[in-house]
Amino acid sequence: MTSNTWPDLDGIAYGGDYNPEQWPREVWDEDVALMREAGVNFVSVGIFSWALLEPKEGLYEFGWLDDLLDLLHANGISADLGTPSVSPPAWFFHQYPEARVTLKDGTVMGFGSRGMASHAAPEYREAIARMAGALADRYASHPAVVMWHIHNEYGVPVAEDFGPRAVASWRRWLQARYETLDALNDAWGTAFWGQRYGDWEHVVAPAATPTIANPAMKLDWARFTDDQLRECFRIERDVIRERASQPITTNFMAHQSWNTDLWKWAREVDVVSDDHYLWAPDPDAHVGLALSADLTRSVAGGNPWILMEHSTSAVNWQGHNVAKRPGEMRRNALTHLGRGADGIAFFQWRASRSGAEKFHSAMVPHAGPRSRVFREVAGLGQDLKALADIRGARTTAAVAVLYDWESLWAHDLEWRPSDDLQFRERMRAYYERLWRDGVQVDFAHPEADLSGYRMVVAPSSYLLTAEAGRNLEAYVEAGGTLVVGAFSGIVDEHDAVHAGGFGAPLKNALGLTIEEFLPLRAGETCHVAYGAESIETDVWAEDMALAGAEVRGTFTDGPGAGLPAITRHQHGTGVSWYVGTRLSVSALAHVFADAYADAGLTPASAPEGVEVMVRTSGAEDFVVVCNHTDDAADLSITGTNALTGAQVDGQLTVAGGDVAVVRTAAGEWGGGR
Ligand code: GLA
Repeated sequence: MTSNTWPDLDGIAYGGDYNPEQWPREVWDEDVALMREAGVNFVSVGIFSWALLEPKEGLYEFGWLDDLLDLLHANGISADLGTPSVSPPAWFFHQYPEARVTLKDGTVMGFGSRGMASHAAPEYREAIARMAGALADRYASHPAVVMWHIHNEYGVPVAEDFGPRAVASWRRWLQARYETLDALNDAWGTAFWGQRYGDWEHVVAPAATPTIANPAMKLDWARFTDDQLRECFRIERDVIRERASQPITTNFMAHQSWNTDLWKWAREVDVVSDDHYLWAPDPDAHVGLALSADLTRSVAGGNPWILMEHSTSAVNWQGHNVAKRPGEMRRNALTHLGRGADGIAFFQWRASRSGAEKFHSAMVPHAGPRSRVFREVAGLGQDLKALADIRGARTTAAVAVLYDWESLWAHDLEWRPSDDLQFRERMRAYYERLWRDGVQVDFAHPEADLSGYRMVVAPSSYLLTAEAGRNLEAYVEAGGTLVVGAFSGIVDEHDAVHAGGFGAPLKNALGLTIEEFLPLRAGETCHVAYGAESIETDVWAEDMALAGAEVRGTFTDGPGAGLPAITRHQHGTGVSWYVGTRLSVSALAHVFADAYADAGLTPASAPEGVEVMVRTSGAEDFVVVCNHTDDAADLSITGTNALTGAQVDGQLTVAGGDVAVVRTAAGEWGGGR
């Protein structure tokens, strides 16, 4: 069947994971009444229900789900129907003990939690296909069902599987990729440490090894692991697709996942959906939220997406589960919306009394509906109703930030020049600079068409293929402005250092290569003279071999004293900047001010701590203004506040912690675009 590309729903999708099987039947009636009160129109059901749906192999009990879907439908609430493949029942593992996942050290996972199935096990693959088929046969035309939600957060809690079936499938995967052992030996550089393979049966998985395993093997293993998960997704998706026309999704975890290459995954789903949880140790966790939302929209190709899970208040799985303070949940939700989400959902509807997540917040907390959290949940429901017209509006960005999961995987392998130079930390720092400057960004793959962007930023592109190098070079040549962070363009797709040395694929674009890395000791700092500034920096220095680049910043002390730290290079009609050290968010401001000028970009003029996001329907813009500070902030803008209906005549005042959404003429808020 052909699929729809959005669930058949009016307005913004609003709701959460709903697990009524944890509650007596009479609670369900209260639930739907409260959902109506809160403006909920969309709930995800059945994600963990396998043991109830198939209590014994081949014995299906759909009665309770029939009742539930009927009840939801009667109350005007739509269902995102889950397939329960993340949590097969106890009988399954009893019957098929080989279908359990094996950890690196050989430990076979036991039952009593979730996510312990081996994605390589044929018994698991058959069982998930049967279950998905049975659900689709029964509910493909149920009027409550508007979307299918396959599995849950692929790759969590366990992605890698070192069991014998997984290893056999790894060998098949390698044969398909390399065809000959010579090609594999070449790609993995097995001449090193005498690792040459003479027989496919001898090829092992990177399990427990005395010292570090072959990095190229580990990088392929990460690709294989990701592929295995995607294969299992496809099995369920295709079975459902044969029977049903509702769109199919699975919930991603954007910047918080490691195992899934979302550029690939996004091509497999009808609707991109994402889960995001604030990271409590981060005092500016809302910046990480914005990054995650922009990344999700970008993998979705700019199409609207659904925030499938976030929390109304505290989670339960961090060391210090910080509760959200009044207004914070609303700011979080509307930031996701401002960055392209047309659906806002939570984990979960009603807090569980039992089990591992009883201290996790919910839309209906343990305190019940007469609580601050529920009042805010209902308030958000009202907001989203008022914002129904934003649906489908797009985001335009003048800047692309390069993000590549393969580079993350490769960068995170062991024995790098410095443990302190990290992909995620650098990504966040460069993103945060752009966020603080009010510059709207998309994320892009390094081999993507970048011609539509005025500026491209590559915070951390350790693995950069020769093709990506040519792409960036052509981008600059044609007039683009490129900003590249340290330790980029170092290895190819096999984690082998590029012929021509460190940075060789970017040599023409940047006008330099790197002769030697000069990392600092833990905690050490040094300084860079940049114009009239002396900028403190840490972690990284290096010795560049200039090939035309102009030196704009020089190390004044530390291991690189006297050597170039920051360069600018004119190539074709464009300009490249290179930052050969680890600059803080505030230090990056100096370089970005100059790079914006090269790109002809004007950062937005919003007050500090006020986040402005623009979605456009073409004819009009929706300007979402989120005030993260405690003080009122003023913005120059004209339009109508969609949340209050008030006219905004040239000046908008947003109270501390508040959010406004102004409908304006297209292009009214031009900053940072
Ligand atoms: C994940 C899962 C949910 C739940 C939440 C708790 O995102 O998908 O089932 O465990 O975490 O934060």
